[in-house]
Amino acid sequence: MLDERLQGVKRPETPKKVQDFFTSVAKRYDLANSLMSFGMHYSWKRKAVKEAGVKEGMKVLDICSGTNDVAIIEAKIVGDGGHITALDWNEAMQAAGQFKIDKFGLSDRITNVIGDAEKLPFEDNTFDRATVAVASRHLNIDKHFQEMYRVLKPGGRGVCVDFFQPPNPLFGRLYNFYSYAIMPKIGTWITGDKTGVYDYLPDSIRVYYTPEDFSKEMIGAGFKDVKYYPLTQGIVYVHAGNK
Ligand SMILES: C[S@@+](CC[C@H](N)C(=O)[O-])C[C@H]1O[C@@H](n2cnc3c(N)ncnc32)[C@H](O)[C@@H]1O
Repeated sequence: MLDERLQGVKRPETPKKVQDFFTSVAKRYDLANSLMSFGMHYSWKRKAVKEAGVKEGMKVLDICSGTNDVAIIEAKIVGDGGHITALDWNEAMQAAGQFKIDKFGLSDRITNVIGDAEKLPFEDNTFDRATVAVASRHLNIDKHFQEMYRVLKPGGRGVCVDFFQPPNPLFGRLYNFYSYAIMPKIGTWITGDKTGVYDYLPDSIRVYYTPEDFSKEMIGAGFKDVKYYPLTQGIVYVHAGNK
C-alpha cells in the first residue's frame, strides 16, 4: 500500500517514459550510480546475490539487469557449469553493459535477453535463482512477483534489493536533504538527462511501498519464508523468499 499523504506525487511511469529515461542515461548510468551512492550500490548488489544463495552450476535470472552489474557478480560464482540470463527491455542499457561482460571474459556465461519483467519470456520452473536490483519502482509489483515466482524452479529463491524510505527520523531527514537537494543535481549533471527523472526518483521512494507491504506482495505471489532486512540505515532493503 502506498503512503496516502504522497498519493498526489506525479509518477512518470508509463513504459515509454521509463524507456526514454534509461535510453537517455544509459551511457553514463554506471558513473551516476557510483557517484550518487558513493559506490555503495556494488555492496548492496553483492549482498543481494549472497542472500539469493547463488552457487556453482546454477541457472540464474537477473531481471531488469540494466548494465549487467548483478549478472556479472552471479556469473563469477556459477562458473562454467552455470548460466546467467540477464533480462531488460532497454537495448541502450544492455549495450552500455556489454563491455563489462567482455572485460571479465564472461560472454559464455551471460545471455542478455530483451524482454518485459511483467511478462517473462521463459517457461515455468526454469531458474534456480532470480534477482532484481533497484528496479521494482518501475514495475507493477504484483505482476512482476507472479512472473518471478512462475519461472523459478520449485525450491528456487527470489531476491530483491531496492530503495525505501529509511525508518530512523533523524537519518531520514539527512537522507531527504541529500536525495532532494543534491542527488538530482549529480544525476542530471553526469548523465545530461533531460527527462527530469532524477527529480522524480526521490518522490518515488516516498510514494513507494513500505518494506512490510512489499513483503506482503511477495507472499501474495506465492513466495514462502519471506524475510526482509535493511542495509545502510534502511535506505535499501533486501527482500527474499522461496518457491
Ligand atoms: C535503475 S535500473 C537498474 C539496473 C540494474 N538492475 C542495476 O542494479 O544497476 C532499472 C532497469 O529496469 C529496466 N526496466 C524497467 N521496467 C522494465 C520492464 N517492465 N521490463 C524489463 N526491464 C525493465 C530499465 O530498462 C532499467 O535498465
